[in-house]
Amino acid sequence: MEARAIVKELTESGCLVKPEVAESLSGTDLKQIRRLPATPLVVNETFLERLRDHEEDIVTETSLEVEKHFAGGMEEKDVEDFVAYFNDRITRIREILRNRRELENAMSIARLEEYGEKEDVSVIGMVRDKYKTSSGRWIVYLEDSTGETKILLDEEDGEWLLEDEVIGISGVTGDDIIFANEIVRPDLPITRDVTTTDEEVYAVFLSDIHYGSIDTLDDYMDRLAEWFTTSEEAKRVGYLFVVGDMVEGVGNYPGQREELEVEDIYKQYERFEEFVEEIPDRIEIVVIPGNHDFVRLAEPQPPIPEDVAPRLYDRDNVHMLSNPATVLIHGHAGDPIRVLLYHGYSMDGHIDEIKELREKAYDEPHHAMVDYLRRRHLAPMYGSNLLAPEDRDYMVIDEVPDIFAIGHSHAFDVANYKGVNLISAGTMQAQTDFQKRMGHEPDPGEIAMVNLQTRDTTVKEL
Ligand SMILES: [Fe+2]
Ligand SMILES: [Fe+2]
Repeated sequence: MEARAIVKELTESGCLVKPEVAESLSGTDLKQIRRLPATPLVVNETFLERLRDHEEDIVTETSLEVEKHFAGGMEEKDVEDFVAYFNDRITRIREILRNRRELENAMSIARLEEYGEKEDVSVIGMVRDKYKTSSGRWIVYLEDSTGETKILLDEEDGEWLLEDEVIGISGVTGDDIIFANEIVRPDLPITRDVTTTDEEVYAVFLSDIHYGSIDTLDDYMDRLAEWFTTSEEAKRVGYLFVVGDMVEGVGNYPGQREELEVEDIYKQYERFEEFVEEIPDRIEIVVIPGNHDFVRLAEPQPPIPEDVAPRLYDRDNVHMLSNPATVLIHGHAGDPIRVLLYHGYSMDGHIDEIKELREKAYDEPHHAMVDYLRRRHLAPMYGSNLLAPEDRDYMVIDEVPDIFAIGHSHAFDVANYKGVNLISAGTMQAQTDFQKRMGHEPDPGEIAMVNLQTRDTTVKEL
């Protein structure tokens, strides 16, 4: 913001700006002045000195750019949309796979016809079907836009393989089949520079508040709001990410009514609005929906609409985005930090499909997150989420994130995979009757904070 515009705004709010300081006023000064309990009568040198002194231990400058976001699309879908959607998925993941040395010479499936037996080949395609043979190995049907081929895989590779995922195969040709030597997944590059910020600034992650439920822990939310407004620690927080299920919702499952303290969906959101309004407005807040929120269930989910949470739309520091979404933060003083946000609804079906994940990913969701990064997709198996075939596949992880945050499981977990901070944000809801019956133990009241200068994560217990 230009100094002239700042002076204009201050003057209009009834404040006298002395000419000797007019030129030096910055956007940061303005933000600080706006935060004062009352508009100052005079802005002169003494005033500015005091204001800027006070700024030193507080993060005042933040920046946020939306990199990937789905604003909304056509509700009517037909078969052709699905075909285009899956083609987009194959194209995007093929682009990533092409960088792998093992797939440098990958050919289209139709070209396999030109090859005899016992020749080395590599192909890229989407898994259409798989079945286990009596010997324990797997027959897999792999397709691309030119055709389909059969692949023989060993037992372990086959167990991890999911229908609809896009993979590369290198192997040796047989009679109408490829004997696979290796499955190549897009994954993340082995080494990358870790992006950090010049100053100490924190990003905080929160999810699954389920406002309106009888099990929502309002005490924790009050304590969190108080921490944001009064603690020394929170002065260095620049960003807050809320990754879905802000409210319990209505009509999400049979018998939900008995679990509701607040039955009106708008009133449920009012509680969330009140919480957000308590957070200092120098903090950028990103909100994405989850499966309990008041927006379509099919993914990508557009943002929670304005008429549902109007007070959030009134605030400049609140960014209402889609699920999933990617943002770049703190880029004003160096390389930005890329944050990938996904509520995590597809995890239920995904974890259930793979034995090793069934054993550990319910308690430690980061195992499922690693698996998503390896496959570079947030719902690799069709049917693990409810899917809307938009013009592009928003679930593909095109760009490597620095931070990947998820919610939904209500299990708090932090980890690191190839330099990416993984955060499964916990919940603010106590164990529900349903979770008790299912044997799921939530971890309520834990908050993850990532220091963007060191990329270390600390855990805060409320
Ligand atoms: Fe939830
Ligand atoms: Fe959820």
